[in-house]
Amino acid sequence: MNNTVFYDSDVSDDVRRQQLYDGQLFVYSTRASILGLVNFAKSMIEDAFGGLDPRTAQKNMEVERYADLLGKLKPAFIHHPESKRHLKAILDDLGCDSEKTYFDVPRMRSSTSDNYLTTGIAFAWHPHRDTWYSAPACQINWWLPIYDIVSDNAMAFHPRYWTQPVKNSSADYNYYTWNKLHRGENVAKILKDDPRPLPRATQPMELDPQMRLICPVGGVILFSGAQMHSSVPNTSGVTRFSIDFRTIHLDDAVAKRGAPNIDSACTGTVMRDYLKCADSTRVPNDVIALYDDGSEAAGELIYTPKNLSAEKQPTS
Ligand SMILES: [Fe+2]
Repeated sequence: MNNTVFYDSDVSDDVRRQQLYDGQLFVYSTRASILGLVNFAKSMIEDAFGGLDPRTAQKNMEVERYADLLGKLKPAFIHHPESKRHLKAILDDLGCDSEKTYFDVPRMRSSTSDNYLTTGIAFAWHPHRDTWYSAPACQINWWLPIYDIVSDNAMAFHPRYWTQPVKNSSADYNYYTWNKLHRGENVAKILKDDPRPLPRATQPMELDPQMRLICPVGGVILFSGAQMHSSVPNTSGVTRFSIDFRTIHLDDAVAKRGAPNIDSACTGTVMRDYLKCADSTRVPNDVIALYDDGSEAAGELIYTPKNLSAEKQPTS
């Protein structure tokens, strides 16, 4: 049963992954390795906003200009070699085997307050599992705040849905079609209704009680990609900036270990996106083949940013 939040646990990565696959959550308090990534992100954000406080800049900027700024800032962070270097240092610090652990590039996220911008480049995530978006069962999500968070601008977990299936539209989602049609610079131009066919629940959900984990800056939250989670509607008065990234362990990918799939029906796989910690090589082809489902001709297997334009990836 999923019922535990492990705080600053010193179990091995093998044990931790198994606990995550069972629906448990892990939280770590401030660590130097995480502060390294946070401070790098902060410097990029503060450069981008010039003299404005990034947490309140939304009050002084036209939304078009704000979205345009994020549309440049986020891809620059995502693809910066320093981001990957810091990410690898975090994984090393937290006991991940660099020869077996693969990661996806770290995403910078923002959640503006009071519905200023909740679509496109600053999408406010409805409840979802990343496994509705072609993540494998062994995917682990890492989420960390860049500035202090409070309950009103955090992310929320909906743990009852760990064992309870939800009717959803993931059957309409193919990762390769998504790469071809719905990523790129146009995402930053979405300011109101978001037209993208994002998998979501197609039945009413009970989102309360829900759980919001508030860790300090320099801390991190780990959860399975199958965990139901959402962006909290931000009523805090300040913009929340966070980073998330995803990892898999090669042995689990080979053995098809991971969280149970109770309601996902998407096609395609994000397995081609992960990079090995040790040398940034991709997951071996014979392992990817275990996850192929015949939809490989549907679009782009790996998304390639056009001139580092704005991009959007599922996960909160
Ligand atoms: Fe997510």
